[in-house]
Amino acid sequence: MAVRIGFAFNLKPSQTQSPPGPDASAAAEPTVGKAAARALRADLPQPDLYAEWDEPETIDAVEKALSALGKVIRLEADADFPRRVVAARPDFVFNIAEGLYGVNREAHVPAICEFLGIPYHASDPLTLSLSLHKGRTKEILAYHGVPTAPFIVANSRADARNVTLPFPLFAKPALEGSSKGITTRSLCANRAKLVSVVGDLLDVYQEPVLIETYLPGQEFTVAIVGNGREARCLPIVGMKFDELPLNAPPIYGYEAKWLWDTPERPLELFECPARIDKELAREVRSVALSSYRVLGCRDWARVDIRCDASGRPMVVEVNPLPGILPNPKDNSCFPKAARAAGMNYDTLIQTVADIAWRRISGKSLLAKAAA
Ligand SMILES: Nc1ncnc2c1ncn2[C@@H]1O[C@H](COP(=O)(O)OP(=O)(O)OP(=O)(O)O)[C@@H](O)[C@H]1O
Ligand SMILES: [Mg+2]
Repeated sequence: MAVRIGFAFNLKPSQTQSPPGPDASAAAEPTVGKAAARALRADLPQPDLYAEWDEPETIDAVEKALSALGKVIRLEADADFPRRVVAARPDFVFNIAEGLYGVNREAHVPAICEFLGIPYHASDPLTLSLSLHKGRTKEILAYHGVPTAPFIVANSRADARNVTLPFPLFAKPALEGSSKGITTRSLCANRAKLVSVVGDLLDVYQEPVLIETYLPGQEFTVAIVGNGREARCLPIVGMKFDELPLNAPPIYGYEAKWLWDTPERPLELFECPARIDKELAREVRSVALSSYRVLGCRDWARVDIRCDASGRPMVVEVNPLPGILPNPKDNSCFPKAARAAGMNYDTLIQTVADIAWRRISGKSLLAKAAA
């Protein structure tokens, strides 16, 4: 009998839809296309509200890849998800749902599955909630001696005014992903700018703001697959910021990720494998794997790393729900690293599903599909 794979996701609403939450605001002017779906929107409570959710192209691509391994049951992670997952009773859930609202939003699908006794792929609710909170993540990393930049979590403008860390500093919402709230303004050279940026972020995102030492060095992101001693890094992705518009700071923020780098005009921002010396590569991989382990990540995750002024790799954040846009022109880093390791998109998704199913059942999905 085919393994029944529930597939949990959040579909990015079209530009004409309001957010499906408690404080839905007015609908936008109708616009079409990928660029429009990624543009910042003045009509929403947050201009980048939908950035973390997946586009139909990604959902279709994951479904297609999983279909080679078993019977896929689509389970959109909306308010009806708990009822539908009970009715479907899959053997396990492959989860890419980022969640809708709240500080535990990335944990909702796994928590519901855990409650119902339905196995699921990737990290558990504890790891997902901790990793979404960049301050909590850094506390855990620091406790375990994993290098990460000095920081504070600001809950008010006064916290920003009173910060004692040396400038330049970097300010970003403490609980977002996909570069939400991270723009060229995030780099703050002085206190006046910091207070203004932190104030705006507090107002728009209604959540704490992470203020940390600006890391001026090279940036890398490391895709990891596997569990326990089998956890391994895919080839390191390095960033080249000289492609960014003139005078733009060397950061991979919202503009660089979604507005300047488009499938129509992709920026050559990445190099994979990163051309760095062996010792630095070893350190980057070691720091990435340590983060994966101390945060309890499972099956897959992506770790973002930047070097400090002395060239030492520091963990910026951990993504246990990594972005996986299928079109190579979208420059999505996990599939990019997989391609450098010789895995196409289908193979990546199937490999990760197999890793999850082996963890859950002790059996190989790939072997079963090949039989
Ligand atoms: N302390 C820092 N110093 C320098 N640059 C930083 C710092 N923190 C973040 N950045 C820049 O901002 C980018 C986005 O930051 P971060 O990875 O924390 O955001 P995110 O929205 O969670 O990202 P993702 O899209 O990976 O989910 C980083 O890739 C890096 O270029
Ligand atoms: Mg990041």
